[in-house]
Amino acid sequence: SGPPVEPFAPEFYQDPHPTYAWLRKHRPVHPVQFPGVRVWLVTRYEDVRALYNDPRMSVNQETANTDFHTAGMAYGAGTEMGHSLLFKDPPDHTRMRTLASKVFSARRIAGWRDTVERITDQLLDDVAPHQRVDLLGVFCYPLPIMVIGEVLGIPGNDHRKLRQWMDPLVGLSREEALAGTKSLMAYVREIITVKRADPSDDVISALIAARDGDRKLTEDELVGNVFGLISAGFETTANLIGNGVLALLDHPDQLRLLRENPPLMDSAMEEILRYDGPTATTIFRFPTEDVRVGGVVIPAGEPILMALGAANRDPEVFDDPDALDIRRGDNAHISFGRGIHHCLGAALARLEGKTALRTLLRRYPDISLAVSRQQIRYKPAVIVRGLEELPVVLQPSR
Ligand code: HEM
Repeated sequence: SGPPVEPFAPEFYQDPHPTYAWLRKHRPVHPVQFPGVRVWLVTRYEDVRALYNDPRMSVNQETANTDFHTAGMAYGAGTEMGHSLLFKDPPDHTRMRTLASKVFSARRIAGWRDTVERITDQLLDDVAPHQRVDLLGVFCYPLPIMVIGEVLGIPGNDHRKLRQWMDPLVGLSREEALAGTKSLMAYVREIITVKRADPSDDVISALIAARDGDRKLTEDELVGNVFGLISAGFETTANLIGNGVLALLDHPDQLRLLRENPPLMDSAMEEILRYDGPTATTIFRFPTEDVRVGGVVIPAGEPILMALGAANRDPEVFDDPDALDIRRGDNAHISFGRGIHHCLGAALARLEGKTALRTLLRRYPDISLAVSRQQIRYKPAVIVRGLEELPVVLQPSR
């Protein structure tokens, strides 16, 4: 016997949790056949944690087996994106992360609060009330791209271009996605040249200037990491907001509780990240030698995905894991990953997510779906979990 629905089958995405529950119980390390390559899916919290702590888990796609490459899944290797710290192992990762953390510090991120609030309000000013709008298109997607554009120091009139180049990455064909990536990379290279000649108080200028002793980022590493900052925080943050709004609409009692107790926003945000966070899985890992996990030996070089969405509902760790409880304390969700690759932008994502939900709830005392619940569909995407569309009607206070 097997899971009720195979992971990543088309009908899996609507509700992956029955499959996750079966896998955690019966086959916690599960081989999934992708076209041309076998991928290992790890679903138990304890096993995910063990792999995150295991230095033999490489993120460098050059260490993947031949099947992974022949199947055309090595999008990072050989492109500028491969130079982002997301795809680097120590010692390169350590060196780059030290520099990037200086620039993306908690203190600096806290200083962006006003910027995030202003952009949030601007976007909501432009949303038409009393009629059907796709909240993802008018609000959730534009917010993170405008915020990252502004903090990177990208001129305001170029934000629309950023959006256009990023859009194809979210849905359309591989060709369009590659074309968008190429244009964005070329633009990033150009803007780095501009900032080198004329630095100002922004993240790109700070990355150019960052040094650790006599070590600096190379030109390729700068391009890869600026691109990494734009792409890592775009779909994820957008879907954090979208999935969060849907989770609250699905649980009117929790929504009411949050409206009546705004200070619950901190724990509500953590619970949304756990309950339906935007990272269904990590990026691929490749063991540098055979590793044993959950009673299974995974051969060196075979791709592994850690199912963060499954670990986040593990009953060994969370009481009543399938319930949305915005007052849940001690919430050890793993949606930002763990260990050396723990999300560099977590503080910014939380700031954007909380500001977006708080402002939306304050300005619109009545938010409702504009279609029936059955019509709301999740995108069939492996790593990022998010909705195709979120049609709502917003009713302002009068
Ligand atoms: C890494 C989640 C937003 C930048 C990661 C990882 C996760 C994650 C799970 C680790 C991936 C792995 O281990 O395979 C999220 C979620 C977000 C979010 C759920 C929003 C809700 C952001 C934002 C930024 C960002 C806003 C920056 C603007 C990064 C970077 C890394 C990373 C640079 C790589 C860190 C490293 O490899 O050392 N994120 N992220 N993320 N994230 Fe985020």
